[in-house]
Amino acid sequence: MKRSLLFGLLMLLFACHSYRELPGSRVESDWKVKEIPPSPQQTGGDAAAGFAFIGSGAYIGTGIPYEIFQKRMKMQQPDTVLHRGGRNANLPYPVSTFEAANGVPVVNGNCFTCHAGRVMGEVVPGLGNSFSEFEKNQAPAAKLIRIGMDLKYNKKSEEWEAFNDFSLFFREMAPYIQTNQPGANPAFRLAEACMMHRDPADLTYKKEPNYEMMDYTIATDVPPLWHVKKKNALYYNGIGRGDFTKLLFQASVLGIPDSTEARKAIEGFKDVVAWLQQLEPPAYPGPVDAPLAAKGKTLFEEHCSKCHGTYGEAEEYPNKLVSLSLVKTDPMYANYAYDSGIVDWYNNSWFANSEPRSYFEPNLGYVAPPLDGIWATAPYLHNGSVPTVDALLNSSARPDIWERSGNSKDYDHRALGWAYTVPKKDKGDWVFDTSLPGYSNKGHYFGDKLTDGERYAVIEYLKTL
Ligand code: HEC
Ligand code: HEC
Repeated sequence: MKRSLLFGLLMLLFACHSYRELPGSRVESDWKVKEIPPSPQQTGGDAAAGFAFIGSGAYIGTGIPYEIFQKRMKMQQPDTVLHRGGRNANLPYPVSTFEAANGVPVVNGNCFTCHAGRVMGEVVPGLGNSFSEFEKNQAPAAKLIRIGMDLKYNKKSEEWEAFNDFSLFFREMAPYIQTNQPGANPAFRLAEACMMHRDPADLTYKKEPNYEMMDYTIATDVPPLWHVKKKNALYYNGIGRGDFTKLLFQASVLGIPDSTEARKAIEGFKDVVAWLQQLEPPAYPGPVDAPLAAKGKTLFEEHCSKCHGTYGEAEEYPNKLVSLSLVKTDPMYANYAYDSGIVDWYNNSWFANSEPRSYFEPNLGYVAPPLDGIWATAPYLHNGSVPTVDALLNSSARPDIWERSGNSKDYDHRALGWAYTVPKKDKGDWVFDTSLPGYSNKGHYFGDKLTDGERYAVIEYLKTL
């Protein structure tokens, strides 16, 4: 009796623990495909102002004083990507300087830290950055910056005031964003960790967490921003619904002090939405075999269009959310978001309860994305587990472990995507290991029925999108 009680308790503990470490892998089967309805969006923004706002706006609210950043970090280099003016002209493009609410110039990362990527040696604003490095523990850096600030400024100084919120949230989120896969991006965890320490009503910092976070840092690829204009819901799992300005504003939870400052910053996102509405993918730079592509178009419309839409003159994008039971790709990310405390928090927060409203609607599935500019957006699938389109359309050719060079010029025009090698073991800077939880390369078997010839025709067509 006693033993079975103890055994039961142990089982319960074990069950709880394994649950907290790895999210479940539930697959709903009562639906296969859902059409995502549109939500009303704001119009009338200014695209050029939106681009400028991303590169120099005050949407993170607080940051490291410009003075200390410039002296200690020695990161002066001309901005040859965004071609910004003023103080930003001499900062690398992933960081911006702006004024905190009290007028102190501060520095923080901007959207292009994650949303400007390299392909064939060029940095393309709007392309996801697949070269980010979140494998290091950033908690020591969070501590060091606070120590540096203490040495230089009085705690009651304006500089500390302009730094404090960013510092608090950086400290809280740092332990939660360390990934076990190079290139993978933990933006969802970052938002989850910051919102965990914000009062939902006024967004102010609170020490006491609002919910618990699972132990495992799951991360994803970064989608290209030129898809937003076709989408009715944001994010790989289609969780982001309602007004896009509020959804785009999410990165601000890293430093914005409260809802009053959030209200001011949200204005600029109307322009960012306008920038996204006109953003186009870069054109494929190589030659295209037009007759082969025409054959591919017919095959594409037969096998792929019902989920991915049609392209060219009569463009149509169906906004389909595909259940895990049908797409069969790694279910962990969808499950993770479904179970996260962030969902209730978000839907009871300033983001959902003040105009313009946005909300989270979690589903156990993934959005079939538009395929515009697909040649440039390797790796493929939400978890970035497949290096080329060829391998995506032929599941038997997908490498379980693969290594890219880290140089975006190493591109494979035939397979459409990154040139890679198959390493013997999980070593090397850019080795992707699909055996790690959340990074499996299974699923999306929709190309398997194509013959080799048909597959290459479809690939040729995809180059034209
Ligand atoms: C730390 C990296 C990071 C930063 C900084 C960041 N993002 Fe993202 N963003 C991501 C990742 C990763 C995703 C994919 C998450 C998902 O879909 O679940 C994403 C998704 C998006 C999407 C949805 C795209 C789609 O097709 O569904 C938009 C739009 C977006 N980000 C805009 C922005 C803007 C605007 C900013 C700056 C205010 C920003 N992001 C800052 C990493 C980042
Ligand atoms: C039943 C719907 C469905 C069909 C049919 C389908 N796909 Fe997909 N496709 C998806 C979904 C859902 C995803 C996202 C899966 C994920 O990220 O886990 C996807 C992802 C992709 C991606 C990767 C996108 C990216 O940016 O990572 C490509 C490329 C793609 N599909 C091409 C095709 C082609 C070509 C066909 C036809 C041979 C096809 N798909 C048929 C639903 C479908």
